[in-house]
Amino acid sequence: MYPQPGGALDDAQLLAIYAYSDPSKSCARFNFVATADGAANHQGVSGGLGGPADKKVFGLLRRLADAVVVGAGTVRAEGYAGELLDAQGQQWRLGHGLATHPALVIISGSLDMASDADIFSRSPVQPIVLTTERAPLESRYRIAEVADVVVAGVDELDVEAALGELSDRGLTRLLCEGGPGVFGAFQAAGRVDELCLTFSPSLAGGGGPRIVSGSGHELQALALNHVLVSGSEVLLRYRRAV
Ligand SMILES: NC(=O)c1ccc[n+]([C@@H]2O[C@H](COP(=O)([O-])OP(=O)(O)OC[C@H]3O[C@@H](n4cnc5c(N)ncnc54)[C@H](OP(=O)(O)O)[C@@H]3O)[C@@H](O)[C@H]2O)c1
Repeated sequence: MYPQPGGALDDAQLLAIYAYSDPSKSCARFNFVATADGAANHQGVSGGLGGPADKKVFGLLRRLADAVVVGAGTVRAEGYAGELLDAQGQQWRLGHGLATHPALVIISGSLDMASDADIFSRSPVQPIVLTTERAPLESRYRIAEVADVVVAGVDELDVEAALGELSDRGLTRLLCEGGPGVFGAFQAAGRVDELCLTFSPSLAGGGGPRIVSGSGHELQALALNHVLVSGSEVLLRYRRAV
């Protein structure tokens, strides 16, 4: 619809308009869905907010990413586990010179996670866990049995150091699927490069979280890349304004 009015887009066209602009440069893309009144979840989860178009783009964005990044809060709330992509998505990646699966990166300052949790046991790739020095040593050893544990930061995640660690592993095209805590940390560090935001045609009422948490952030200007409309769903892609 913007910048040019057009007809229906097929998967190839959607993948083209969501392509990362410069794969050699680290890019933290955030993908969120919010209700029309700004809530990031309903009854504790966001899964019910996205309609068919949001779900379609959610899956396609995973195809394009080197790594899917998610916070421990979202893992706890949404029960992330298993394949990140269907067979078609995996085939597409192979055909485009990418690893079959994107890497899975979990952010947890506390490492308060069970090592036999589904997120570890059902992941097709060994997850990377970004944590901090405040995580107890015992937890670091425990999680290191099922994941690549990377310490980046003392009390809070050092976002720059974390991005450097991921870049050293060849992971520059990042798709951050939430949640608000991780978004807030990246925004505070000035490292939000893109926001893909779906407005769900629904109202959640007061009290729900917004897509970003934390306070005292600098106002960050965004530039609009495109707007897509599907039925009553509106999908926006913003990039950092230079
Ligand atoms: N609308 C959407 O698109 C969307 C997307 C994702 C999630 N959500 C919703 O968001 C809610 C969860 O929110 P959330 O903010 O708890 O999720 P989150 O951002 O996924 O997780 C927060 C957790 O991540 C770790 N973390 C984040 N920033 C950190 C930092 N700077 N340093 C160290 N650790 C850091 C901490 O883990 P530890 O506690 O382990 O230290 C923190 O408790 C759920 O209701 C979920 O449904 C909505």
